[in-house]
Amino acid sequence: MTVTVPTPSPTAEGTKVPSSSGNPAGLSVVVDVTTSAFSTHGELTDEPPDYPSLDPGVLASVNVGLFGGLAMKPWLLLKIADLIAERPSASDDNVHFTESFVETVLDEYTSPGDLVLDPFAGYGTTLVVAERMGRAAIGVELLHEHADIIHGRISGRARVVTGDARNLTRLVQGPVDLCLTSPPYMTAVDHPENPLNAYRTLDGDYGRYLNEIGDIFRQVAELLRPGGHAVINVANLETRGTITPLAWDIARAASRHLTLQREVFLCWDQQPAEVSGDYCLVFQRPSG
Ligand SMILES: C[S@@+](CC[C@H](N)C(=O)[O-])C[C@H]1O[C@@H](n2cnc3c(N)ncnc32)[C@H](O)[C@@H]1O
Repeated sequence: MTVTVPTPSPTAEGTKVPSSSGNPAGLSVVVDVTTSAFSTHGELTDEPPDYPSLDPGVLASVNVGLFGGLAMKPWLLLKIADLIAERPSASDDNVHFTESFVETVLDEYTSPGDLVLDPFAGYGTTLVVAERMGRAAIGVELLHEHADIIHGRISGRARVVTGDARNLTRLVQGPVDLCLTSPPYMTAVDHPENPLNAYRTLDGDYGRYLNEIGDIFRQVAELLRPGGHAVINVANLETRGTITPLAWDIARAASRHLTLQREVFLCWDQQPAEVSGDYCLVFQRPSG
């Protein structure tokens, strides 16, 4: 079944859709919401999975057995309605995480009192949820208008610095316990806007962008305590029939400095425009 979702258009968590790749805020987006799911034998069925009926006790034991004792499953179910409802009123696009996603990650990888870093702070979801959960948090955000939104949402334990994440170690002092972030996205072709200049200059170059993202995660690795984690939300993108394997490319860039430990599939109830696959990639700074 195909439906039209009214504005605000459901772009992916973390996706800043540049003007050249379509879906400017304000347009309706057509999404396919046909319910298909894998049966327990792995083949496609037309039945939606019966998640709510799963017994939490059984799930917990499955998690211990299959997922190394971690509470976070290898998939997370996310709702477009949450994304739209949680969009700050002063903002003009859907570049943010859902709060439930941030809660799940912080539950898994931090304890109260830990310090959480978001080098691409956006509207501050990481900082707001971290503060609510008794963690300290620091964010870096290039745009003054986004930093202003964050200032209006945090108090006390969270802090935002207006600056360029490419200079991360000059802006933030470690050690941090967790980095949770989603970078601005780029497609490999037809993309003159430079994501790391907030799409405001036309010197975009995919290879240089990946190198700069890699260097930001080199700095994240330097700031993390040994054993600390870096969790990146990033999607593979599909524009006009061409797929940019952005998640794989960023995973490769970050893997030069951190160890890729797990991948979690982010399953939306309605697939966001231009997202072919959405991921939460978990890296770790080795303990030794
Ligand atoms: C995908 S959004 C992050 C959204 C965030 N996770 C949230 O929930 O609100 C990426 C953010 O990175 C910012 N940004 C882009 N280039 C940057 C840079 N060089 N340094 C710091 N922030 C940058 C953008 O302005 C945007 O707010």
